[in-house]
Amino acid sequence: MKILVTGGAGFMGSNMIHYLLKNYNDVEVINFDFLTYAGNLENLSDIQNDPRYRFIKGNIADEKSVDDVVSKGIDLIINYAAETHVDRSIMEPRAFIDTNIYGVYTLLEAVKKYKVPRIIQISTDEVYGAVMEGESDEKSQFEPRSPYSASKAAGDHLCHSYHVTFGVPVIMTHSVNFYGPFQFPEKLIPLFTCNLMDRKKVPVYGDGMQIREWIFTEDHCRAIDLISQKGNVGEAYNIGTGHRVPNLDVTRKLLEMTGCDDSHIEYVKDRVGHDRRYALNSQKLRMELGWEPQTSFDDGLAKTVEWYKTNQSWVNRCRSGEYANYYEKQYIKR
Ligand code: TYD
Repeated sequence: MKILVTGGAGFMGSNMIHYLLKNYNDVEVINFDFLTYAGNLENLSDIQNDPRYRFIKGNIADEKSVDDVVSKGIDLIINYAAETHVDRSIMEPRAFIDTNIYGVYTLLEAVKKYKVPRIIQISTDEVYGAVMEGESDEKSQFEPRSPYSASKAAGDHLCHSYHVTFGVPVIMTHSVNFYGPFQFPEKLIPLFTCNLMDRKKVPVYGDGMQIREWIFTEDHCRAIDLISQKGNVGEAYNIGTGHRVPNLDVTRKLLEMTGCDDSHIEYVKDRVGHDRRYALNSQKLRMELGWEPQTSFDDGLAKTVEWYKTNQSWVNRCRSGEYANYYEKQYIKR
């Protein structure tokens, strides 16, 4: 089975490649990644000589590069390539439109043209917008509120339309917030962990009572594997754990795990248009496909913090160069 993982040098994509190579002998995995700031081949250094693995540098929004790969015959595409950070989408939305919309269009066209048997679109719970009470299921209306979530919603709509109009065999997935090893230190959990390891303060937006639902990366990989084998084409699947907590609770756990206290919290100006709460109903995935999360939040967080502690040089390289400029810009704007 020849699997094309787009965005395979990023956090989720690299975790998925590790998962596939660990669990299947008879796979050939092509990692197609443009190596933007969040893509890092170091994430895959342990498997770079594995004969089942190959890296190709390319942009999903570039028709020619996509055609070159897909025309050679692919059995499954898993599209992790995306711009994903909400704060960046507020400052510089353009890349989100290019990758999350035009890039998805380009992949769908290639799937149509070369008759790829299946493509999985990785998307987010954020397309449903802020959910003040109750849960979003797969039939809930899209109400994206940031350029990031709007671009993902547009990509998902394109997927749906390509299934209805052209019969493209696409499955959409909406996941809650991921965390785990290799996540770029701009998202809440890795940013706060890295700051605290350096005994720096952590910037809590607003009152810190915004609620997110969390999934450990390995649980997400298992869900994607199952959906790609047993899911119904043309449908969407929510992937959630039900573990919903305010950001301050996550922050306090990280303070404890790194030996810090509340004096390391800095309450900063809230994110513009900050979604107060996300909550997914993931019964369809559980009832129809029999998936259940296996890692508790406490265990997953402990594994994650341990990974960042033992991979300090990886963190240092991420935090140099382009990222450092971004970090500065973000804080000047507040
Ligand atoms: P983030 O990891 O950026 O994911 P998302 O916005 O996609 O949910 O943020 C998770 C939550 O943490 C979100 O409510 C914003 C908040 N947050 C902070 O309070 N401070 C920070 O520095 C960051 C990056 C996020």
